Amino acid sequence: MTNQIHARLLIIDFGSQVTQLIARRLRELNVYCEIHPYQNVTEAFLKDFAPKAVILSGGPASVIDEGSPRPPKAVFTLGVPVLGICYGQQVMMQMLGGMVERGHGTAEFGRAYVTQTDARLDLLNGWFLEDKEQVWMSHGDHVSAIAPGFEVYGTSPNAPFAITADTARNFFAVQFHPEVHHTPNGKTLYENFVRLAGFSGDWTMGAYREEAIRKIREQVGDDHVICALSGGVDSSVAAVLIHEAIGDQLTCVFVDHGLLRHNEAEEVVTMFRDHYNLPLIHANESELFLGELDGVSDPETKRKIIGGLFIDVFQKYAAEIEGAKFLAQGTLYPDVIESVSFSGGPSVTIKSHHNVGGLPEKMGLKLVEPLRELFKDEVRALGHELGLPASFIGRHPFPGPGLAIRCPGEITLPKLEILRQADAVYIDQIRRHALYDEIWQAFVAILPVRTVGVMGDGRTYDYACALRAVTSVDGMTADYYPFSHEFLGETATRIINEVEGINRVTYDITSKPPGTIEWE
Ligand code: XMP
Repeated sequence: MTNQIHARLLIIDFGSQVTQLIARRLRELNVYCEIHPYQNVTEAFLKDFAPKAVILSGGPASVIDEGSPRPPKAVFTLGVPVLGICYGQQVMMQMLGGMVERGHGTAEFGRAYVTQTDARLDLLNGWFLEDKEQVWMSHGDHVSAIAPGFEVYGTSPNAPFAITADTARNFFAVQFHPEVHHTPNGKTLYENFVRLAGFSGDWTMGAYREEAIRKIREQVGDDHVICALSGGVDSSVAAVLIHEAIGDQLTCVFVDHGLLRHNEAEEVVTMFRDHYNLPLIHANESELFLGELDGVSDPETKRKIIGGLFIDVFQKYAAEIEGAKFLAQGTLYPDVIESVSFSGGPSVTIKSHHNVGGLPEKMGLKLVEPLRELFKDEVRALGHELGLPASFIGRHPFPGPGLAIRCPGEITLPKLEILRQADAVYIDQIRRHALYDEIWQAFVAILPVRTVGVMGDGRTYDYACALRAVTSVDGMTADYYPFSHEFLGETATRIINEVEGINRVTYDITSKPPGTIEWE
């Protein structure tokens, strides 16, 4: 922690659903911040972290209840600006000598309007464009008496102390959530807050790149790093960044399981080996994978076989790289944020596919995770900064088990080839119509049925396929993409004309839930 060069803001999380959005707003202002669950924020932690400002997040608890979460008192003696939001506001008031009461008809959920009662607060500069400003409230309790030293600057019908501040100590408290979309001008509050706290906006991708390179060099020294390169955005950006830091002390292993898309293996290998001059082992193990998958049709069994083989293969190739002490991973910030759990203490969520199946422990390797502090769009920005082609950075996600889970039923070489070709035509259509960037993920699934058709004067008996295209923010929920009928018709015609083996095209209009994005 101590080798950071930029000023840092600490967000103490009390479990609000929208805490990550606070971090997003601040990062947009080029301010570096970290979210930490309140349980982890001790006095010693605060001293080590040395924040330039602190934000206390919202949360589902009630400060009135015994044992409800609190930040350490030291937060208020650090001498840095503190902003309390919703629960954070209430906890602040209670700890500093004010009072909080239960709702009794004063709960507020959703849109509300705050009226400015005093124009002298710097935090509000440029915020009240009119007398009233729309905000988003979500609270049961409310502050009934403000702490000594505080004054009121804004009220709403159900929150008389909607905006309060102790300007001598730079403590600010708001009942609403400025980080959400429904507080349209909320960014201004954050802008004012970080300006007041003296942040210079030094969190730029250029600065991040330099700092990350310095840290990688410090961590790795003269040792060797291995990286499982999938060709996805995260592992690609991590690999290029690490390569920039330590050059040929990095070796990437690209495990080709024979379940990649049309030309994908060639594209990845050409780009990294030829364009970036990056030491890359192309582990072409398609025979092994397809052999083990032969005759398997159960989705979970397919996934287990692929996952297990992936680890074996990676281990085999990695063992040949002399002196490897580190494993690089493209872990992102949302994967490492510890979420606040009120029952069992903080819990860490790490997506299983980011952690290469317990490999680091198994192989006695230490981890290098240079993207741990970044959100997905920041990784893309870093990719741009590092000169990765835009077409590569903007690619749709592709699952680890690859085409295996887009080929329901048994996987055969001819089916995979038909699937690859159909998928290539479909993606080409989407690109031609300039729809690629509007869509989270699009692909073809080849169905385990053959249907009768007629082409020319002849009868055909070929496979049917399903097109899938969804919009999503994080892959957790998704909607099908509303293509025009013209687009769908044109695409079906192209696939049937250009791909031998398919004579029927369907469009999957299931959202998630109840469906999943992939077919298996
Ligand atoms: P589902 O099908 O569960 O997929 O709605 C959600 C997102 O996750 C991707 N996905 C995977 N990614 N390994 C991965 O790296 C996997 O095993 C895996 N399974 C699904 C899927 O493509 C979608 O983006």
